Amino acid sequence: MSDTTTSAGENSAEIPAFPMSKNTAACPFDPAPDLYTQRQEGPLTRVRLWDGSTPWLVTGYNDQRSVLADPRVSANLNTPGFPSTSPPVAAAKTSLFRMDDPEHARLRRMITAPFAIKRVNAMRPAVQKIVDDQIDAMLAGPKPVDLVEAFALPVPSVVISELLGVPYDAHEFFQDNSQIMASRNSTPEQKSGAVRTLIEYLHGLISDKVSNPGDDLLSGLAEPIKTGELTQQEAAGLGILLLAAGHETTANMIALGTLALLQHPDQLALLRESEDPKVVTSAVEELLRYLNIAHDGRLRAATEDFEVAGQIIHAGEGLIMPNEIGNRDPEIFDDPDRLDITRDARRHVAFGFGVHQCLGQSLARVELQIVYSTLYKRIPTLKLATELDQIPFKDDGIIYGVYKLPVTW
Ligand code: HEM
Repeated sequence: MSDTTTSAGENSAEIPAFPMSKNTAACPFDPAPDLYTQRQEGPLTRVRLWDGSTPWLVTGYNDQRSVLADPRVSANLNTPGFPSTSPPVAAAKTSLFRMDDPEHARLRRMITAPFAIKRVNAMRPAVQKIVDDQIDAMLAGPKPVDLVEAFALPVPSVVISELLGVPYDAHEFFQDNSQIMASRNSTPEQKSGAVRTLIEYLHGLISDKVSNPGDDLLSGLAEPIKTGELTQQEAAGLGILLLAAGHETTANMIALGTLALLQHPDQLALLRESEDPKVVTSAVEELLRYLNIAHDGRLRAATEDFEVAGQIIHAGEGLIMPNEIGNRDPEIFDDPDRLDITRDARRHVAFGFGVHQCLGQSLARVELQIVYSTLYKRIPTLKLATELDQIPFKDDGIIYGVYKLPVTW
């Protein structure tokens, strides 16, 4: 067991900066090269953030899970030592994934039911129709086409808008504002502005649902608002989180997953030619493991002293668990840098781990299973309409993916 404390600034020139950039030219699907280097240095190393602080970086799969499941760590950005990867945005403080229990559990409970596996499975025919309609529209239009705009974004946007009870014609407004919120290149003022704009809009929408409820998730929050269990401010915060998560995550998995499959034609052929739903399920889990679109690491701060991988972590120290490197742990996944849709990848940490594990994972799985089992069968000649090095990657935000994916058939 060791107890080395490195205060902020000490030898800071030798401590690598975090977040770390990928080498998109070499392999846009692999974690940043510095993450592999840090893994070689040891299970826990220090990284340097924009504010000069030097939290721990945890690279191993088991160590990441053990920290994320530990009640002695906090996800609240106001906890001393919390590792913010960019200047905090005042207006976004109330986000569910930046809260601790019991506050977190109270709010999460309010929105759990619509994401239960049974409820989400019942949405399959509706999601299939949305996917088919979007493919019909794409096939009827000109080519080449940007798959992000024509397919990857609209599918989850329509799904989440219907689930929440938000008019679909507001989707561009949501996409623009959630992209500003997710980009590291946005200034704190821009981020606060985007959050304020969305909160204002959701306040109006929720007030309408309280007086005139429908059969949707936001209307379901009307009752707890009336009984005083939930404030309108909290309901708006939940709505923003779900809309942003609904737009920014699955869309990037659809576009980046398609690019990964086009770059691995043997894997794409396996998926396209199989009629076995288990092959699709397995492909979705493997693409989640391999691609890891949730970037910036799972961020936590220790509230008490504890030990991980023989290292004492002191209360007030930050911890960063990037799932992209955890999911490439050779002790857990054989030949982890290889995309193999036949492997059993279900243990991956692409949805995080512990109490904050992704609430929308069943919905994301259903959407991805339907997309991956439909798109390449309906357009078997789908191919890139540009060179790989011309594709703009989103290496500047908390969600990884592509800005554009020009395709033809
Ligand atoms: C492929 C798509 C998705 C991926 C890879 C993903 C990934 C993640 C990850 C890694 C976390 C954990 C954050 C942390 O521990 O710091 C998370 C949390 C969360 N996700 Fe997802 N997500 C996806 C889709 C969705 C969808 C479609 C929704 C809902 C519409 C959603 C809603 C949420 C919510 C509400 C949380 C916070 C849960 C909590 O703090 O208790 N996600 N997601």
